[in-house]
Amino acid sequence: ARITLRQLLDHAAEEGYGVPAFNINNMEQILAIMQAARLTDAPVILQASRGARAYAGDAMITKMVEAVEAMYPEIPVCLHQDHGNSEATCFSAIQAGFTSVMMDGSLEADAATPASYDYNLSITGKVTEAAHAVGVSVEGELGCLGSLESGKGEKEDGHGFDGTLSRDQLLTDPDQAVDFVTRTKVDALAIAMGTSHGAYKFSRKPDGEILAMQVAQAINERLPELHLVMHGSSSVPQALQDLFNANGGAMPQTFGVPVEEIQRGIAYGVRKINIDTDCRLAMTGMVRKTAREQPEEFDLRKFLKPALEALRKLCVERYEQFGTAGQA
Ligand code: G3H
Ligand code: 13P
Ligand code: NA
Ligand code: ZN
Repeated sequence: ARITLRQLLDHAAEEGYGVPAFNINNMEQILAIMQAARLTDAPVILQASRGARAYAGDAMITKMVEAVEAMYPEIPVCLHQDHGNSEATCFSAIQAGFTSVMMDGSLEADAATPASYDYNLSITGKVTEAAHAVGVSVEGELGCLGSLESGKGEKEDGHGFDGTLSRDQLLTDPDQAVDFVTRTKVDALAIAMGTSHGAYKFSRKPDGEILAMQVAQAINERLPELHLVMHGSSSVPQALQDLFNANGGAMPQTFGVPVEEIQRGIAYGVRKINIDTDCRLAMTGMVRKTAREQPEEFDLRKFLKPALEALRKLCVERYEQFGTAGQA
């Protein structure tokens, strides 16, 4: 059954759990997430980026989601636009049947520069007004994701910019968050606190200096009802790095967001936890393993089935770790 982000996160707040939002691009990812949700009795957020919509096509994405809704009728599913960069992106997602959209006004639409506060307020407010009129939820973003170690604004995955930012720009201002949420009426707010997209988040296991969980705490003190969103929340587990590298991959040693830090965030009102990199690594690690161990194999299913199972295992772990399990 399809639900909105607002409905799901209100329930998460009441019961004190977090919901991982996994990125989807294809059938195997969607099936892996739904199988994990059934195994753990967890509600689901499936999120599609602009890149995912371009890769698969809106009809393919939405029909696949309709298909798993029929296959898994007991699981509530929110279909969310990840990182909408413009009103047009958000409106076409709503038209396609998404029940939630992210208007990411933290960057200009071309993602080349940090946006002004007025631009972010204005575009997010407009999208929220239109979305709410048709029963769709909205996630906004305040503050720029990027590394507190290097000051680099992020561009890990091709979108985002290359410049250097101050610590101020890389951390959401809690007082500004109050103003932003009050004026835009967003249902959820993505905040900047030192996480970034992709595999290369930290050069060491993060402490409070480079992963500023205290920002979530400060916003939660001011706005205890607000649903916070953590982007760049992959943990980049050592085991997945090892699987990838043992099978011919080349990934330099890196550190992600430890699961126990996310669990602390959930206590501070973090309700939606965005994870893509871990999913990618789990699947491509297994594809590499099959390719290395069975060079004679050319049945694509023999590659994708173990990859699906690896993603399913990761999703089960996150549903259990975030307290989503048992909440469907
Ligand atoms: O925000 C980034 C997500 O990992 C989606 O990545 O834009 O390459 O699909 P993508
Ligand atoms: P990761 O790259 O850490 O998985 O973050 C994904 C994300 O934030 C998608 O919006
Ligand atoms: Na999002
Ligand atoms: Zn993100």
